[in-house]
Amino acid sequence: MSKSSINILVTGGAGYIGSSVSNLLIDQGYNVTIFDNLITGHEELIPTEAKFEKLDISDTSNIEKIFKNKKFSAVFHFAGLIRVGESIEFPAKYMDNNFEKSKIFLNTCFDNDIKKVIFSSTAAVYGNAKKNKVVETDKINPLNPYAESKIKLENFLIDQSIKRQINYVILRYFNVAGADVEMRTGLISKFSSHLIKIACEVATGKKEKLIINGDDYDTPDGTAIRDYIHVSDLADIHLLCLKYLINDNKSEIFNCGYGKGYSVKEVITTLNELLSNKIKTEVGPRRDGDSQIIVSNPNKFNNTFSWKPKYNDLKIILKTALDWEKKIFNKKN
Ligand SMILES: NC(=O)c1ccc[n+]([C@@H]2O[C@H](COP(=O)([O-])OP(=O)(O)OC[C@H]3O[C@@H](n4cnc5c(N)ncnc54)[C@H](O)[C@@H]3O)[C@@H](O)[C@H]2O)c1
Repeated sequence: MSKSSINILVTGGAGYIGSSVSNLLIDQGYNVTIFDNLITGHEELIPTEAKFEKLDISDTSNIEKIFKNKKFSAVFHFAGLIRVGESIEFPAKYMDNNFEKSKIFLNTCFDNDIKKVIFSSTAAVYGNAKKNKVVETDKINPLNPYAESKIKLENFLIDQSIKRQINYVILRYFNVAGADVEMRTGLISKFSSHLIKIACEVATGKKEKLIINGDDYDTPDGTAIRDYIHVSDLADIHLLCLKYLINDNKSEIFNCGYGKGYSVKEVITTLNELLSNKIKTEVGPRRDGDSQIIVSNPNKFNNTFSWKPKYNDLKIILKTALDWEKKIFNKKN
C-alpha cells in the first residue's frame, strides 16, 4: 500500500507535539486527519495539508459519522490537558478529560476497527525515581492527578489489548522542548509551566523574570534535573512506532528521552550563552507535585529501532525554542 492511501488519525493535532508529528506524517506521505477541540490548541499550528475536524474526543456521534466515511490504519492520541499544577487544583477535570473522555474515544475507535494506538504518556508516572535513570519496568509512582490520569489510560490500553486484540505503543515522554527547525511548529501557550518556554519568554521580553522553583533539592546545584528531548526527535520516534505497529502487531512501552539530565541552572546558563543579556531569575519555593530528578534510560527504544537522535544537544533545543519564541512574538506584536 502506498503511504498516500494510509489514513492516520491524530487527536490533539493543534497542539505542540501533535502538530509536529502531523507535519512529519505529511512529509512522509501519509493522509492525516486531526481531531481537536482547540481547548489549548491553535488552529495555526495545524498543517494545511491535514483534514481538520474541530470536535471533542468524547463527541461519539460525530466521530462515528466520520468513521463511516473514512478508514484509519492507526490513531495517535495526543489530546489531553498537561499542566501538573492545574491538575492538583482541579483533579476531576484531569480525570475526566484525560482518562474518561479518552476511554470513550478509544472505545469508539476499537468499535470501528481502529486497533492500533500510539499514546502520549509521561515520565511523570515514575514520580521520584529511586535511581539515576528510569527503565520502563521501574515502579510506577504518580505524584499528581495528571500523572495518575496517564497511568490509568496506560492500564486501560494494556487491558484492552488482551480483551479486544488491539495493539498499542505507549510513549513515556520526558521533557519535550525546542521547535521544528523549519519553524513550522512550536509551543504556543500563555500558561505553560515548561522551564524552557518560560525562559524564552523572558529572553524575548514577554515575561519579566523566571522563577526557579526550588534550589534546595538534593542535586549538585540544588535545582531539579530533567531529561530534555527535542520535539522533532520525538516526532521521529512516533513515525518509527507507527511502522512497528502496522508491520509487527506488537505492543510496547518506551521511554522517550536522551538519557542525560540538566538542572534548571544548567539550562539557564546555556540559554544565557545564546543571548546578549542574561535573563532575570529569582528563586521561589518548590512546586507541589514536582519530582527532584527524572532522567530516562532510553536503551529499550534505541536498541529496538537502532535509533540515534538528530538533535541531542541542549544548545540546539534552546536555539530552536528561542527562534520560535521570536517568531510568535513578532507575529503578535
Ligand atoms: N509537552 C510535554 O513536555 C509532554 C510531556 C509528557 C507528555 N505529554 C503529553 O503529550 C500530549 C501532547 O502534549 P502537548 O505538549 O502537545 O500539549 P498541547 O496542549 O499543546 O496539545 C494538546 C492538544 O489536545 C487538545 N485537546 C485536549 N483535550 C481535548 C479533547 N477533550 N478533545 C479534543 N482535543 C483536545 C488541545 O486543544 C491541544 O491542541 C499530551 O497528552 C501530554 O500529556 C507532553
